[in-house]
Amino acid sequence: DLRILRFDPERDEKPHWEAYTVEADPKRDRILDLLHRVKYEQDGTLTFRRSCAHGVCGSDAMLINGRNRLACKLRLEQLGKRRITVAPLPGLPVIKDLVVDMDAFFDKFKSVQPYLVTEKPAPERERIQSAEEHAKFEDTTKCILCAACTTSCPSFWAQPSYVGPAAIVNAHRFIFDSRD
Ligand code: FES
Repeated sequence: DLRILRFDPERDEKPHWEAYTVEADPKRDRILDLLHRVKYEQDGTLTFRRSCAHGVCGSDAMLINGRNRLACKLRLEQLGKRRITVAPLPGLPVIKDLVVDMDAFFDKFKSVQPYLVTEKPAPERERIQSAEEHAKFEDTTKCILCAACTTSCPSFWAQPSYVGPAAIVNAHRFIFDSRD
């Protein structure tokens, strides 16, 4: 059983839950597969973002059984439940169904200058960096900007000036980069 928090700004005054029953293989199917099945077989108006379907692009973070996660990475078996609720990421305005307005998230990301800042003239070839220097920030290059961490943070909901964990991770990525 799949319950999805739906909202169509042209029809609804506020979000409401809708229930669907979907055939699924718990070992193989991911939450994204179930959403596709609802969209293709039951209700083509269901709206959500997704692109890579492999945990790379960061476009399908949503609130699944009370936790922010990527729908394309979570298999039913991992969830361990047959009743599933899916809602949009909290803390951002809902545009339609599971699609939220990410502007506030990306504004905060941009505010930390997440790009190389240097006054040194460009070398003829690449800017050299040792493996040890690279290791200092390598982990923070893995952020895919899905907004799952930031939008699950109550401080982000409550304090407009707080940039949130994803922006902090990306600040780290450049602050510890020896070329920056
Ligand atoms: Fe790209 Fe899930 S669809 S991360």
